[in-house]
Order: sequence, then C-alpha cells, then structure tokens
Amino acid sequence: MLKMLSGSPLRSLNTAYSTNVEDKSTSSTTHFGSKTVLASEKEKLVGQVFSSVASKYDIMNDVMSMGVHRLWKDEFIRRLDAGARPGSRPLDFIDVAGGSGDIAFGLLDHAKAKFNDTKSTMTVVDINPDMLREGEKRCSENHYKNDPRIQFLVQNGEVLDKIEDNSKDVYTVSFGIRNFTNIQAGLNTAYRVLRPGGVIGVLEFSKVDNVIVDTFYQNWSKFLPIFGQAIANDYDSYQYLVESIQRFPKQEEFKGMIQKAGFYVPEPGYQNLTFGIAAIHIGIKL
Ligand SMILES: C[S@@+](CC[C@H](N)C(=O)[O-])C[C@H]1O[C@@H](n2cnc3c(N)ncnc32)[C@H](O)[C@@H]1O
Repeated sequence: MLKMLSGSPLRSLNTAYSTNVEDKSTSSTTHFGSKTVLASEKEKLVGQVFSSVASKYDIMNDVMSMGVHRLWKDEFIRRLDAGARPGSRPLDFIDVAGGSGDIAFGLLDHAKAKFNDTKSTMTVVDINPDMLREGEKRCSENHYKNDPRIQFLVQNGEVLDKIEDNSKDVYTVSFGIRNFTNIQAGLNTAYRVLRPGGVIGVLEFSKVDNVIVDTFYQNWSKFLPIFGQAIANDYDSYQYLVESIQRFPKQEEFKGMIQKAGFYVPEPGYQNLTFGIAAIHIGIKL
C-alpha cells in the first residue's frame, strides 16, 4: 500500500511539509501524515510503515535526529525518577509502542544503577509484531536474555485489552503516541492501567520554539525521506514520519489532552528538548 502512494501527492515536497495543513478529518476519517484516510485504515497504514522501517529503525533514528534521540531518551529515563514514589519499588513498568526496547531496557538499567532495584517488572507493548520482534531480538542479545521480569505483548496502545486496570506504576510511550489513530483514547487507556499514584511519561516530537532552529529543522526535515530512500529504500515511510511529526499537537494542547484523560500535570507541564524538537510530558494519576 505504501508503495502505491508513490507518485501520489504524498510525494510532493512542496505540499508535504506545510505546517498548516488543512484539517479535513471527521469522526470516521483521520490523518495519515498529510493525507485524510478512513480511521479504520490508519492502523493498517501505520503498521505498514513500521514493518517497512523495523530492520533499519536504529540507523534511521540516528540519521533523523543526528544521534540526539539517544540523549533525549536518557533525559526521559532520568525524569521518570520523579515518578518513583519513595519506598514504592519494585515497580511495574509498561512501555507502550516500545518497539526497539530502548526505553524498556534503559528504565531497568537505570533502576538498577540508581536504586539497586533488580525486581521491577517491564511489559513492552507494540501494535506491530515486526517492531516488537526487533525489541525481543535485542533482549535475547543483551543482559536481559531470559529475564522473566520482561514480557513482550502485541497490543494496541489505545486499548491494551490484556492489561488490567490499576496494574502498573509507570507508563511510558516514546515517539509512539503520534502514530495512534485516537491519541486521546491512548491517554485514557494509560489512565486506566495505572495505579493511583502512577505516572505517565510521554516523549514525543513537538513544536520548535526558536525561529532560527525551526527554519533549520524544517529544511532538514525535507531531506529525511531522501535519506529514507538511500538507507532503507523507502521514501514514503519516512515522509509519513515527517508529516506525522508536523501533525502532532503543540505542547500546550497535548498537555491539555493528558489532563483531559484525568491526570494531574505538574507545572510547567512539559520539558522542551533541543528547543522543542522533542518534549517530555509527565502526568500523575492521583
Ligand atoms: C517511532 S517507533 C518508537 C519506538 C520506541 N518507543 C523508541 O522510542 O525508539 C513508533 C512505534 O509505535 C508503534 N505504534 C504505532 N501505533 C501504535 C499503537 N496504536 N499501539 C501500540 N504501538 C503503536 C509502532 O509500531 C512503532 O513501533
């Protein structure tokens, strides 16, 4: 399907990178990058993107963020310390849209290094079996091989029907939630699965707050599908990734969505990373 989009308006660099794309979505339609598609179709289209990029995911992430995504993830993991109530360890973590496992392994490593916590559990969830397999493969090759504390589940983050209510202490989603068909449903589900006192942490691309950096960033973004073509032989998937970033709500709006799900959001509500190219949002289920 993605390949069928070649030659379509998705290919047009002139139209694809407008940050003011007209919102033509209705309750039965939604966005797929800059296109309006049936909501029922989006999950399949997003699935095709991530199946396509799964094996080259790491290298492309490094190219797309110039390696900075690793620093952002480290900061995200550190920030989540705030979510660990004193004396509350071990914790039950869930990393949604966890794919690569970067956040899952990072959180467990950090828990051990900083709190000598070797008992916390981790559920890694992703809607895409190919992405989840990449995470499982890494797990089988790193120091978490055969660690019974880690489980991988194919699950839609909007629903999480295999995860019980009030069963997790920390919910993370890193560079995943912008791909959900219904982001608010994903946040409501996060609220459902967290225990009272539990913490949601979202790391996501966001809106740049500096004109010079934004000009550079918008121009840099135009090259990403070209890198995608060169490295992964896949122009359209990387164009979708750029467009999905541009579609994602601004920091204040997304903070409002977290509050709407029921979370208390400590002020200022989010932390911009690299001038807002990415941002960390934290919420607490009181
Ligand atoms: C850009 S990757 C991020 C992977 C990892 N969290 C990271 O930070 O490196 C986005 C992931 O979101 C997953 N995803 C997209 N929609 C999803 C949904 N509705 N539920 C769960 N995972 C989803 C994709 O399959 C993909 O693995």
